[in-house]
Amino acid sequence: MSSPRRLAGEKLVVASHNPGKLREIRELLEPFGIETVSAGELGLPEPEETGVTFAENAAIKAHAAARAARLPALADDSGFCIAGLDGAPGVLSARWAGPDKDFGRAMRNAEEMLQAKGAGSPEGRRSWFVAALCLAWPDGHEEAVEGRVDGTFVWPPRGNQGFGYDPVFLPDGHDRTFGEMSASEKHGWKPGEAEGLSHRARAFARLVGRCFG
Ligand code: IMP
Repeated sequence: MSSPRRLAGEKLVVASHNPGKLREIRELLEPFGIETVSAGELGLPEPEETGVTFAENAAIKAHAAARAARLPALADDSGFCIAGLDGAPGVLSARWAGPDKDFGRAMRNAEEMLQAKGAGSPEGRRSWFVAALCLAWPDGHEEAVEGRVDGTFVWPPRGNQGFGYDPVFLPDGHDRTFGEMSASEKHGWKPGEAEGLSHRARAFARLVGRCFG
């Protein structure tokens, strides 16, 4: 196996149009002094996410941005999975919020579906976030990692920090939802540490070990 490719001081495209993700990825990159530009700032189109896994969709977004910008590009594909809904919404997490990005509705739908299936038990409420990160270069090379955090789907939603499904996710070992945590608590990670708390920070810690830092 060839050794991982490292970032060599180039500007990095953050290939996301989601403001919540963009903010978190930039916060995680900040200690490394890497200059970033977002796909939106470059006016890049959002490619269609046709993959059936988080990793496939991250690769689609990272390669499209790297080719178009002729720069290395980092993409995150992530989602929220609920055991009692057989892992849904999963790769459809963003789509459940509809075109108006109404995550209040998406969270309510999940709760109603759990109740309708009679799956509102503690086992049915087991849930997890996954983040797949893909760092792609214009020549087609890629480095890919994943991170996951397990916890409980709680109802009603708690807190108004973070984004997306954060207010209904209580990570194992904590008594506050992601929606009640500051960004740094949710990341739970600093350079030099092996593991973070959030799925994104955990994936990021793996990527740092391989490609920069
Ligand atoms: P996509 O990766 O662009 O398909 O969108 C992922 C979707 O998953 C987001 O729009 C959020 O709804 C959800 N999601 C991913 N990561 C998080 C997170 O850290 N907190 C809350 N929701 C998240």
